[in-house]
Amino acid sequence: MDNNSEASLTVEMVRSALTTTLLGNRIRHYAQVASTNEIARDAGRRGEREGLVVLAEEQTAGRGRLGRVWVAPTGCCILCSVLLRPRFPPRQAFYLTIAASLAIRRAVTRLSTASAQRGEGGEIECSIKWPNDVMVRGRKISGVLCESEFRGGAWDFVVMGFGINVNLPLEALGELASTATSLSIEAEREIDRVGFLSSVLGELESLYLLMQGGAFGPIFSEWQSALETPGKRVSVLAAQGRVEGRAVRVDYDGALIVETEAGREVRVVAGDLLPLGAE
Ligand code: BTN
Repeated sequence: MDNNSEASLTVEMVRSALTTTLLGNRIRHYAQVASTNEIARDAGRRGEREGLVVLAEEQTAGRGRLGRVWVAPTGCCILCSVLLRPRFPPRQAFYLTIAASLAIRRAVTRLSTASAQRGEGGEIECSIKWPNDVMVRGRKISGVLCESEFRGGAWDFVVMGFGINVNLPLEALGELASTATSLSIEAEREIDRVGFLSSVLGELESLYLLMQGGAFGPIFSEWQSALETPGKRVSVLAAQGRVEGRAVRVDYDGALIVETEAGREVRVVAGDLLPLGAE
């Protein structure tokens, strides 16, 4: 089904660009939905098999991390949710989120290399801000939100949702321009959304298959080396309150270890990095 009539992306275009066998075995594309995560979640509840990819040109209630909303102008970003049924235990959930960030980072690196080879601009250096924001030059280019449902202590399904600022012009960012950016701004040209999505889903499938085979080590190492946070002074809004100090390292469960002024190490399992000095 393709419910979109005006934008440049169609299910057929995505299908023919994909190199995957699992992710995108079914693709749904909508002009407007409340949230692609919700559509994929409903499919999961109906018992649909994994691999479904839900895309939208616009979301009226896009969901972000920590209960925030995710806003993106119509038709220029990638708003995507993937339905997965992991076989590994739910305690490894954080690997799914970091796999999505790593897949996006790998796709950015690929794009940057291809551009450089064609003499079309400089390198787009991409890093990850703990835990999973994909960043270019200190600005956010993409966010990931995984939402899980369980049955009898095991996973029923996971919806992995990501929003990527692809062809978002600087003017559209408004006051977010100091904290967010897009691929087209960084590459100084319009980006092929379908090609980029296909690249992300290809990378994501390889990472997901690694995880399904129990190989979490290489994913952790890649995440660790992609992280820009360790070594920096940070202020984290965490479940236990505000934690300030120097980020020293990350743990295998994804926690950030912060050394406070008093020299105490605090583990932050989930939270949000605030700009330093923010109230
Ligand atoms: C974040 O807060 O950084 C995560 C944002 C995740 C947004 C994406 S857009 C596609 C998918 N559908 C949603 O409702 N949210 C995710």
